Amino acid sequence: MKLAVVGGGSTYTPELIDGFARLRDRLPLTEIALVDPDRRRLDLVAGMARRMLARAGHPAAVTTHADAAAGAAGAAAVLLQLRVGGQAAREVDETLPLECGCVGQETTGAGGLAKALRTVPVVLDIAARVAEAAPGAWIVDFTNPVGIVTKALLDAGHRAIGLCNVAIGFQRRFAALLGVAPERVSLGHVGLNHLTWERSVHLDGRDVLPELLAEHGEEIAASVGSSPALLRRLGVVPSYYLRYFWEHDAVVEEQRAKPSRAAEVAAMEKALLELYADPAVDTKPELLGRRGGAFYSEAAVALLAALLGSAAPGEDVQVVNARNGGTLPFLPGDAVIEVPARITASGAEPLPLAPLDPLYAGLVAHVSAYERLAIEAALHGGVDRVADALLAHPLIGQASLAGDLAARLVAANAAHLPWA
Ligand code: G6P
Ligand code: MN
Repeated sequence: MKLAVVGGGSTYTPELIDGFARLRDRLPLTEIALVDPDRRRLDLVAGMARRMLARAGHPAAVTTHADAAAGAAGAAAVLLQLRVGGQAAREVDETLPLECGCVGQETTGAGGLAKALRTVPVVLDIAARVAEAAPGAWIVDFTNPVGIVTKALLDAGHRAIGLCNVAIGFQRRFAALLGVAPERVSLGHVGLNHLTWERSVHLDGRDVLPELLAEHGEEIAASVGSSPALLRRLGVVPSYYLRYFWEHDAVVEEQRAKPSRAAEVAAMEKALLELYADPAVDTKPELLGRRGGAFYSEAAVALLAALLGSAAPGEDVQVVNARNGGTLPFLPGDAVIEVPARITASGAEPLPLAPLDPLYAGLVAHVSAYERLAIEAALHGGVDRVADALLAHPLIGQASLAGDLAARLVAANAAHLPWA
C-alpha cells in the first residue's frame, strides 16, 4: 500500500515514520512518497526516514517528489502537513496581532486567519491535482487551521478528513493518570478544531472525569493552562487553546514578554535538520518530543487503518474533523466540527451528542461563523472580506480593530496572497 505525505520535508516526518515503524502490523505500507518543494530538506528528511525504517526492519520504500501529483500517483491515502511560508510566516502570525493588543497565535484569532488565507488556496490546488493522480484516495489533513482547511476541502468535493492530536493527547494523558491502556479510555470530546472540551472520560463505559478532576485537578489544569477551581466548577477539561479565549489579556501580556513560538521552533528545526543529516542517527530524536505534535503518528495510523478497512478492535470510533450534519443542531449541517465519529471505509460519521451547554455552544457558534467567513476571504480575497472575518471573530469583534488588522495582515502576507 502506498501513502503520500505532502509537506514530507517537514521536521515532523520522522514522528510519522516512527509510528509507521512501530505500528507496521496495522498499516502494511510498501511505499511512502514524500512530497516537498524544498529539495534540501526533502533529501535530509528522506535519508533519516530510510534509516529509521531500515533499523526497524520495515520493508517500505521512501521515494521523494517535488510535485504532489507525481508523489500521489497510485496512493491509497495522502496526508497533508504543509506550512505555507514556513516559520517566517508563522512569526508574523504570532507577533503582528500583538501590536494591536490581540493574541498572537498561528491557528487562533487574527494569526489563524492569516494562516488560512495563505493556506486554503495552496491546499485546494494540491488536492485537485492529487485527486486526479490518485482517484478515490483519502485526503487526511493535518494542515492548520485544520477545521477551516477541512471544510474548504469538503466544499470542493474532496474525500477529506481533518485530524489533530489534541484528543489523542488527552486520551493518552488520562490513561496514564488512570494507569490503564489508552484503548480503554474514550473521550466526550466536542467543539471545533482547537476549540474543544472533554465533557466526559469513559473508562470501560463508566464516566471517570469527576474522579480525575477530584484527584488530579491540579495537574490536569496546569497542562491546559487553566485553574483547578474552574475545571472542577465546570466539570469539563478545555483544550489548551481555550486559554487564548478565556485568558486572552493575560496571554497577550505573557506573549509580549517572551520570544515567539515560531522563533523557538525555528531553532529546534535547525537542530533537528542537523541530526537528520547525520548518517549515524536512525531513531526519532528526543528533541522532536519538544514539538507540539505528540501522538500525531499514532492518531494518523489509527485513522488510516480504519479508513483503509482494518480498524483495530475499539478503534472504530476516533475524534476527527468532519461535517456536522445534525450533530450540533445549532450549527449549519455543512459546518466542520471536531467530535468522536465512527470511521469506516466510507468515511467519518459523527456519533450523536448530548446537547451542548450555552456556555460552550455560544463560542462554538461564533467561531464557526467566523470560519465560514475566513473561507470566503481565502477563496475570493479582498481586504474587506478579511475585515468581515475579523469582525465576526470573538477575539477581534470591533470594527476599527478589524479594519486595521485586516490591512496589516494582508500587507504582511502579500507575497503569499495572489490577490493582494
Ligand atoms: C499541536 C496542535 C497542532 C500544532 C502543534 C504546534 O500539536 O494540535 O495543530 O501544529 O501543536 O506545535 P509546534 O511545536 O509547532 O508549536
Ligand atoms: Mn491541532
